[in-house]
Amino acid sequence: MIQPLAHNELMVMREAGKVAADVLRSLKKVIKAGISTKDIETFFDRRLDKYPAMTAAFKGYSGYPASVCVSLNDEVIHGIPSSERLIEDGDIVSVDLGIKYKGLFVDTACTYAVGKVPALAKKLIKATESALAVGIKKAKIGLKVGDISSSIQKSIERKGFSAVRQFVGHGIGRELHLPPEVPNFGEPGSGEELKEGRVIAIEPMVTVGGYEVEVLADGWTAKTKDGSLSAHIEHTVAITKKGPLVITQ
Ligand code: MF3
Ligand code: CO
Ligand code: CO
Repeated sequence: MIQPLAHNELMVMREAGKVAADVLRSLKKVIKAGISTKDIETFFDRRLDKYPAMTAAFKGYSGYPASVCVSLNDEVIHGIPSSERLIEDGDIVSVDLGIKYKGLFVDTACTYAVGKVPALAKKLIKATESALAVGIKKAKIGLKVGDISSSIQKSIERKGFSAVRQFVGHGIGRELHLPPEVPNFGEPGSGEELKEGRVIAIEPMVTVGGYEVEVLADGWTAKTKDGSLSAHIEHTVAITKKGPLVITQ
């Protein structure tokens, strides 16, 4: 049984959430053609150096070798930063990062368009943003996880895109990954009831083609099987009496 978090704990998460949000905002200007995916990790690490009590939550998690995930184009999630991997004009770049602060975790991701990207890629990113927004609206006391899942799936499929099934959102708080799973597909009214003080990471992973993904030989990078473009946007969201509280904005 996951204990609900108290208001003061949510406020601690909010402090880390604001730092994470600031990093993702700053990256809008940092990410451009010619930088490496490793440069994105370095930017995050340098920023975190200003907050000695905060650490990169992904580093060493299940053996993950870096502090951020950077996934390009047909890569969905868990791309490992590399100084050899250079970002090009026309790429879409998903950056996922987590912060641990005072024993609590936050997790957030954003997809960026670099330079002149195809109209379809822009549409994909917009669709992923709005799928996350409709999911967040359902993060309310008394609704079920399936209400979030189904609203995200409908929002994605209405636009002709697919929701990845092999990876899902999750509970978060005293650990990075906690129950319940928060899939981006499902039936309304199904699954666990959302209760006050519970915190979840809602993270639509959306593809232009099919929803099947495969993991590369590095053991981490997940890409679309059909090579189609993918976007991933994530917020950590608390269930409160006042409605959904977006921790990472
Ligand atoms: N941030 C991913 C998620 O959104 C998990 C990253 S795990 C890591 O749940 F091991 F890759 F860091
Ligand atoms: Co994440
Ligand atoms: Co997550």
